Amino acid sequence: MSEQNTTEQKKLIFSGIQPTGTFTLGNYIGAIRNWKPLQEDYRCIYCVVDEHAITVKIDPAKLRQKTLEAYAQLLACGIDLDKSLLFIQSHVPTHAQLSWVLNCSTQFGELSRMTQFKDKSQRHPDDINAGLFDYPVLMAADILVYNADLVPVGADQMQHLELARTIARRFNGRYGDTFTVPEGYVAPVGAKVMSLQEPTKKMSKSDENPNAVILILDDKDTIIRKCKRAVTDSETEVAFREGKDGINNLLTIYSAVTGKSIEDAVKEFAGQGYGTFKMAVGEAIADHLAPVREEYAKLIADKAYLKECYTRCGAEALRYSQRVLNKVYKKIGFIPSEIR
Ligand code: TYM
Repeated sequence: MSEQNTTEQKKLIFSGIQPTGTFTLGNYIGAIRNWKPLQEDYRCIYCVVDEHAITVKIDPAKLRQKTLEAYAQLLACGIDLDKSLLFIQSHVPTHAQLSWVLNCSTQFGELSRMTQFKDKSQRHPDDINAGLFDYPVLMAADILVYNADLVPVGADQMQHLELARTIARRFNGRYGDTFTVPEGYVAPVGAKVMSLQEPTKKMSKSDENPNAVILILDDKDTIIRKCKRAVTDSETEVAFREGKDGINNLLTIYSAVTGKSIEDAVKEFAGQGYGTFKMAVGEAIADHLAPVREEYAKLIADKAYLKECYTRCGAEALRYSQRVLNKVYKKIGFIPSEIR
């Protein structure tokens, strides 16, 4: 973050993303795409949340590789280190430290109600570990340890964000004003991008059907092929209305990547068949993502540069969050440590 940004009283944003695979078009449209313009008006802190990623089994070598790739993808999507911090969660231990404290202000029943926990424990019945259950508390700590004002996320994270707000209020009520109660920011278009194969389900990195998911590093042919195969309906009219989940999803995506309104997009394709429409959606996505792919290829080849970036940003994030953690420790009655 530039000196100018830190001294001005701009509001603070925090957001995170898991490095479990190449980012999907859902991650991009629902979250990352909005991170770039927000940098103009806010101080932004963005994080590759590798500690969250180990709540499901992941091979260590894969995690290392995916974390670095995630970092490079975010830079390629326009995170500007003159304006924002971008770092790796496990490099900044204050998140996990605060998480323990917040655990003691979170109820078992609250965590049991989290829909993502219920979904993931159904999908991984052989590994319903405590980390998976406790995940939303670490997410609350990520946000509260910076006293973030605003948290841009897709719709699927709003329940976790609501819990973070509850925890912040509860802690403040018990120990006195400590945390900012963060607001969620969900983009007006594309807060929930759906699977191309089952358009009533969200597009997800963990989908086993590769045709269901567009990855932001897919090449043009792959993107067009996936769009052509997208499940639609038995009608022929490109229109946005209930019951047309597949077409609604493609229109949402088209609107997000072209900046056109859904209304204008519907007019544009009036009287044209689904084939023409799907082709146009595929091309628009590929054109939009082409600069990201190009930039990513350069960045991932320069490991030394990436290391320099995440080290510098991580150090600054640690300094900033340590102050908040010290204040928390004092409030709850821990004796200040002189160990350096
Ligand atoms: P994650 O890694 O699953 O997803 C990252 C971001 O992408 C959004 N997203 C979507 N948006 C629209 N349509 C979709 N199909 C779609 N899929 C994913 C998510 O809503 C999210 O904004 N728990 C978080 C990561 C996290 C975090 C945080 C976020 C950890 N700590 C603190 C904000 C603040 C997660 O698993 O996101």
